[in-house]
Amino acid sequence: MTRWAAGLLSAAVAAALALMVVSPRVGGQQKATAVTAAGSGTEATATAAAVTSYAPAATPYARRFAALCAACHGANGRTETPLTPVLAGQPALYVITQLFLFREGRRSNEAMTAVAKTLTDDDLRGFSELIETLPPVSPPLPTTPPDPIRMARGQALAEQHKCVFCHGAGLAGGQQVPSIGGQHEDYLQASLRGFHSGARPAYTQAMTAAVSQIPPEDLDTLAYYVARFRDSAGALTGK
Ligand code: HEC
Ligand code: HEC
Repeated sequence: MTRWAAGLLSAAVAAALALMVVSPRVGGQQKATAVTAAGSGTEATATAAAVTSYAPAATPYARRFAALCAACHGANGRTETPLTPVLAGQPALYVITQLFLFREGRRSNEAMTAVAKTLTDDDLRGFSELIETLPPVSPPLPTTPPDPIRMARGQALAEQHKCVFCHGAGLAGGQQVPSIGGQHEDYLQASLRGFHSGARPAYTQAMTAAVSQIPPEDLDTLAYYVARFRDSAGALTGK
């Protein structure tokens, strides 16, 4: 993304991060609740320290991701479950902002809000940092090849509406801007429609402004194109 866009967005995100730093809401108590809620007991947190000594990949948050998040998002951060976003490789700053929005009830989704409400500020940071490091996962091979006419139309729309200006030519995002290339089509469609209708409040006005003038059928074409977009630079493209 460009410096201009980074500057525009960073002030608002800085406010969220500052809030996390000063907030005293850290502690093991909510952690235990969260792990138990996933039905895995407290085993994950209790043994995390021991595990890291011989398995560098199994950090405490990797263990907690397996216990708390993997059922919905997949063990490696990519699942084919409907309307469930791919997380692997999303920029940490984007993730922490979204977890914050869910926890504060500003971004609303029954499943995700319930989980986010159990997370401490340290958890928001820990999960965000972990998710950024999850390696991209290859999407399953498409059952039908992409429709070239629709793909061309989607690409033209992405250029016309400056999606690439913020999300990058490889649609891989960065900093506060999410990676979208290779994300699930149904989730992209729901997100774009949500920004358009206001049902999904973003952290800044960037996305609302970007899609407010785009008719619904074009939003769906964009979702079609972005989901099938493949680029070696894309974090979610699973190259
Ligand atoms: C019960 C299922 C469920 C569980 C458990 C769950 N999630 Fe989610 N998560 C979802 C769904 C569904 C969405 C999409 C919500 C929406 O459409 O607004 C989501 C969205 C997200 C997003 C936003 C992604 C984006 O691209 O904007 C993040 C980040 C996230 N989850 C992280 C986590 C983490 C971290 C955990 C574990 C602590 C977790 N989730 C546990 C179902 C779940
Ligand atoms: C001015 C910069 C900007 C432009 C232009 C822009 N975006 Fe975004 N986009 C963002 C930011 C920032 C977010 C994170 C929204 C938030 O604050 O919650 C986002 C979020 C999204 C999401 C949600 C992804 C997820 O994982 O939930 C999708 C999908 C998306 N953008 C697609 C598009 C498309 C398609 C276009 C072109 C029509 C576009 N964006 C144009 C900055 C931009």
